[in-house]
Amino acid sequence: MPNNIVFSELALELQATAREIARKHVLPGAVKHDKEQKYNFEAARAVAAAGLFKTFIPKEYGGHGAGVLALALVTEELARADSGFGVAFAVNALGSFPIILGGTEEQKKKWLPQIARGDKFVAFCLSEKYAGSDAGGLSVTAEEDGDHYVICGEKKWTTNGGVADIYSVFCVTDPTSKSRRISAIVVEKGTPGFTIGKVEDKMGIRTVPVVETHFDRCRVPKTNLIGGKPGMGFKHAMMTLDYARPGVAAQAVGAAQGSLDLALVYANRRQQFGAPISSFQMVQKMLADMAMKTEASRWLVYACAAAIDAGMADTISKRAAMAKCFATDTAMEVATDAVQIFGGYGFMEDYPIAKCFRDAKILQIYEGTNQVQRMVIARNLVKEAEGLAYLRPYLPTEVQKTYKGTEIRGHAAAGASSGG
Ligand code: CAA
Repeated sequence: MPNNIVFSELALELQATAREIARKHVLPGAVKHDKEQKYNFEAARAVAAAGLFKTFIPKEYGGHGAGVLALALVTEELARADSGFGVAFAVNALGSFPIILGGTEEQKKKWLPQIARGDKFVAFCLSEKYAGSDAGGLSVTAEEDGDHYVICGEKKWTTNGGVADIYSVFCVTDPTSKSRRISAIVVEKGTPGFTIGKVEDKMGIRTVPVVETHFDRCRVPKTNLIGGKPGMGFKHAMMTLDYARPGVAAQAVGAAQGSLDLALVYANRRQQFGAPISSFQMVQKMLADMAMKTEASRWLVYACAAAIDAGMADTISKRAAMAKCFATDTAMEVATDAVQIFGGYGFMEDYPIAKCFRDAKILQIYEGTNQVQRMVIARNLVKEAEGLAYLRPYLPTEVQKTYKGTEIRGHAAAGASSGG
């Protein structure tokens, strides 16, 4: 199937550019950046110069308006070279989505063009020490003080922290409210009272900083309240995650493909028993399974991203959770098998395959653990099942009785009773 049946010309151009940058600027330094825990500024500058930060920014604000599908293609290419750089790129979209989806016109005009140009990097501050999966249980507060908010508390695991210039910070603005407790506020680097705390020493994705962010009576103007109306923060966070999870899933597809690429070239060249190990059936089975699952993940991501771009709002939470969960579980599995194929060499830090394995683990954890994704999927399925009432006649009579309302009659499979 020719690619341009599914993807726009622009998306394919952006993908080709990302692939070139990945090979030239990301892959060669990936191991070094991982070992030294250094951000790859050179690659980020190349990404900015090529206009790739414009991918996810709407046209009206200086972007390409290329959508989530194009964002997935670009992220996949960058992550294929270095999963850590993949997230270093994609987290800019995560941090921007609250503004894109919920911001006022003034806020969009102020921040989005700078992000599109790559002049400013972005971070997303939701998680806290005691609020990870339970994103509603935040304790960082923002109290009104005249025309300012005063933010107090600490955020945990802020990806891109320190490198980023713009932070979307989720704070409690109304502790008494159940459903309107939280608001999202933009805090810019250099704002007095805002500092970077502990820089985490991580198992993987070591090129991108993950830090604590501290707010010590940090005063920000009320004009930085995303959407201009307090209490919308939890909704904005959830909507953002629906849009951003395909990005993590795309990162996972790139990471899986990167591991598979290495395993393939190794298996074709590594000789044992007088033949390349890729000629042995057990290795072939592993390679075939790795390739199938990577490809299945890829299309789940594309389908989800295309649904978002098409505005199919009621399906995207489930699709995003499915894509994120399936693709990231696949990335871990493929990286594990790739290490297995490398045998003893795979266990050594001398070769990048060990890094692929370390990098894969976080994919199953961040932007919602895969346990949370399964919960989101199941909640949606349970809701959707109510739309399958036409199957009622196929249920045991005792269960049929639990349906209230419209009688469904005359179906052969209703068996003993049409219930009541
Ligand atoms: N879109 C819009 N609104 C939504 C929504 C969605 N997808 N999901 C829920 N909501 C709304 C609900 O309608 C409800 O609104 P009302 O109060 O008006 O009825 C409200 O939000 C509360 O919904 P729930 O009762 O479903 O909320 P919950 O407390 O049960 O939590 C959850 C749901 C899915 C577990 C959520 O807390 C969650 O996603 N947790 C995971 C957090 C997460 O992903 N963190 C990642 C941090 S970012 C990161 O990791 C980035 C990085 O480093 C790179």
